[in-house]
Amino acid sequence: MLAYSGGLDTSVCIPLLKERYGFDKVVTVLVDVGQPRSDIERGNKSAEKLADKHYLIDARYEFVSNYLFPLIKANGSYEGYVLGTAIARPLIASKAKEIAQNNGIKALAHGCTGRGNDQLRFEAVFRTTDCQVIAPIRDLDLSREWEINYALEHDIDVLVTRERPYSIDENLWSRSIEGGKLEDPYFIPPKEIFAWTKEPDPFKSEQIIEIGFKKGVPVSLDGIKMNGLDLISKLNHIGGEHGVGRMDLIEDRVLGLKARENYEHPAATILLLAHRDLEQLVLSRAQLRFKTFVDEAWSEMVYMGLLDDPLNADLNAFINQSQERVNGYVKIGLYCGNAKVVARKSPNALYAQDMVSFDSQTLSQRDAEGFAKYHGFQARLLKRMCPEG
Ligand code: ARG
Repeated sequence: MLAYSGGLDTSVCIPLLKERYGFDKVVTVLVDVGQPRSDIERGNKSAEKLADKHYLIDARYEFVSNYLFPLIKANGSYEGYVLGTAIARPLIASKAKEIAQNNGIKALAHGCTGRGNDQLRFEAVFRTTDCQVIAPIRDLDLSREWEINYALEHDIDVLVTRERPYSIDENLWSRSIEGGKLEDPYFIPPKEIFAWTKEPDPFKSEQIIEIGFKKGVPVSLDGIKMNGLDLISKLNHIGGEHGVGRMDLIEDRVLGLKARENYEHPAATILLLAHRDLEQLVLSRAQLRFKTFVDEAWSEMVYMGLLDDPLNADLNAFINQSQERVNGYVKIGLYCGNAKVVARKSPNALYAQDMVSFDSQTLSQRDAEGFAKYHGFQARLLKRMCPEG
């Protein structure tokens, strides 16, 4: 059973599993986690041609409810990366595992290389079974150039060419582009690598949108209630029109390699920004400070693909409890490649306009004088002891 995407790596794996590993049947599973319809259709077509049996699993709603919503609550970010590929791998792997187990399949394969993180994420799930685990690309130490030639010889239809050698991974949350000239961190990415976002345009006027949150997850857009799948798809489109959500970063892979990564993810940029802002309005200062550590630990576990580590349940317990009051609305302005918060409100805000206002009489300003006298006390003690320095 091969976890199949329809891309170059997994497509060449099908004949390789037969020719090099002696399997007489290869079963493929393509998991729909919100990648473009055309990718799924192309994948289905190739699988029907190359594989002996093929499954298409629509996991989009599960992806949103059980993976992306927890990610939003945790402000999921690893070194600035919104974890799109990372969070989808365990779900894809678990679908492959489930079908294998239900059909007496004894070997599980993936198309990851030996250089990236994805091999670790797949195998963390695959190795919870008794199945043999096979990674042909890594095992045979194949290069992309070799794969392209092999694909041509085997009449495999892949979009990758010598001119456009990019490795692209897409799902509802993000699109990543790696490889080719992009591997030189000083090479400026050409416009052609982007598919979800338009070039930022200063002549396109600002658009203000409003996101509604309930218990830390987005539930409405511009006053209209929406399920997560529709809401995220819609935000990808709206944000993409304004060129919002492009990222170019140097990322520390689990193995220790630094990689140059390009991403686009309009909805993720907007939702993470809005969610973080709403938390700032409703959580206490102590909660906010502590939660940054929890969020970082959560994101690191997701990046490493270690979702079954018991730490995750511990972190989620804290995170879920913290989100009980994260209800409200955030307005975001989209303009020329930027998304910024312009307004927010919440029935649970720890904000007291009557007390903070310049015009307020609720609190007596003089009450603060005693507090101010003790502020910076220890530095003053030190100064008294050594006035010179
Ligand atoms: N660097 C990202 C990660 O480790 C993206 C990986 C993209 N994978 C790919 N096959 N193109 O999650």
